[in-house]
Amino acid sequence: MAGTWDVSRYEASHGYVWSLGAPLIGMLDPKPGERVLDVGCGAGQLSGEIARLGAEVTGVDSSPEMIAQARINFPGLKFVLSDAAAFTSEAPFDAVFSNAALHWMKPPEGAARAMARALKPGGRLVAEMGGAGNVASIVEGLKASLGEEYFAQRNPWFYPTIGEYATLLEQAGLEVVNASLFPRPTRLEGEGGLRDWLEMFCRAFLEGMDKAAKRELMEAMEGRLREKLYREGAWHIDYRRLRIVARKPG
Ligand code: BEZ
Repeated sequence: MAGTWDVSRYEASHGYVWSLGAPLIGMLDPKPGERVLDVGCGAGQLSGEIARLGAEVTGVDSSPEMIAQARINFPGLKFVLSDAAAFTSEAPFDAVFSNAALHWMKPPEGAARAMARALKPGGRLVAEMGGAGNVASIVEGLKASLGEEYFAQRNPWFYPTIGEYATLLEQAGLEVVNASLFPRPTRLEGEGGLRDWLEMFCRAFLEGMDKAAKRELMEAMEGRLREKLYREGAWHIDYRRLRIVARKPG
């Protein structure tokens, strides 16, 4: 995960990132003894789950805060501090796994190439990320509040269509076996849920703002998004997931 992260806030209030990503492990179907690389492992919750099923996991993440927490959470597992694009390993992997991370990796070609490079011939990639139209209301609200140019200069996200990401993986040497793009509205408890989400995930836009400017942005975002995203005492963020399964020929 790129940038600096408030790991305590992440673990305390954003557990849906890994709990909603858990079904992906069913698709990965890790076997005891398999070597699995978890790309953008964050604080290691899903790496831990894959290891619990008997695989030998390596987690890689570009955030020192996340890697430090992952090592505390799962002291027996291997976690590497690295950009995904720069990651190399002498021993290849049976599978590469990634949840809710690839949309932070820009430009995306480096990560695609590194995942392909990491796999054994015949190895598989199982990944889920923000896809085209992900958090569209938030993107629109940020553009309207901050201006298109400010948004474009600081935008940390890449939300591809199936065609765009499949092409990247094919150019990296993988065969795409299956891909889907689907809505996954995500409930954030309570009136403060949207602010908390913005504080957690919109650091790229908030950096350098004083307290008053931040408060003004939060109020503007709540005002703009309330009608569309707030109901029954909770915010519902309009996530759209891109799930993709690919294999390395051989
Ligand atoms: C996502 O997982 O899609 C996501 C999370 C935080 C910010 C933006 C997107």
